[in-house]
Amino acid sequence: MIDQTPPTAARRGPGRGLFIAVEGGDGAGKSTQARRLGDWLEGQGYAVLHTREPGGTELGRTLRELVLHGEDGSVSERAEALIFAADRAHHVATVVRPALERGEVVITDRYLDSSVAYQGAARALGHDEVRELSMWATERLVPDLTVLLDVSAQQGRVRRGQVHDRLEREADDFHDRVRQGFLDLAAREPERYLVLDGHGDADRLAEQVRERVSLLLGEAS
Ligand code: TYD
Repeated sequence: MIDQTPPTAARRGPGRGLFIAVEGGDGAGKSTQARRLGDWLEGQGYAVLHTREPGGTELGRTLRELVLHGEDGSVSERAEALIFAADRAHHVATVVRPALERGEVVITDRYLDSSVAYQGAARALGHDEVRELSMWATERLVPDLTVLLDVSAQQGRVRRGQVHDRLEREADDFHDRVRQGFLDLAAREPERYLVLDGHGDADRLAEQVRERVSLLLGEAS
């Protein structure tokens, strides 16, 4: 018998959610692609939770203010890494895991890779140390898929425009290290990543993301 049930969250069932992270440097176009993917999935009948780091919870919004909007030098490097990890711990425990338990598709604008790229690689605090900190914080919750939108430091700067937070103000060589940090992570686990050239046409990028997510949903159902 052919199962005619539409591929809704209900069909995915409790504990069968899907976790997707969208990553990339500042100005890579993550938010646009995350929103477009979410809209498409909702149109397909999935329950979608759209969230972000830092600042996906009330505590996170306070931490976000502290870490992004202070003066230069207001947060030491290790404190910065710990604040992002604290934001992530609370976000996963109170928002992401409960939604996955309900069988929803969770799309987060930034996750663990951002810490590895910004604090681990660009601030040189250590790739493995920073990753392990977040693994501890999240009780080892790794996305089913990480979409990496890869852009050059120069292009990111142009796209960000005039408003800059504490990290966006860093020089291009910082953003070059961020970019390389993301690419290194993707190279370690190519099957769990979709790496796209963020300079490309937004419609085409959205289509490529949809294709990959469709495959994952097919496998998971
Ligand atoms: P945000 O305003 O959310 O920008 P974007 O739209 O680029 O995501 O700023 C988040 C900033 O915080 C961004 O510069 C990247 C940085 N960040 C880290 O350095 N480490 C992290 O773990 C996370 C989640 C973000």
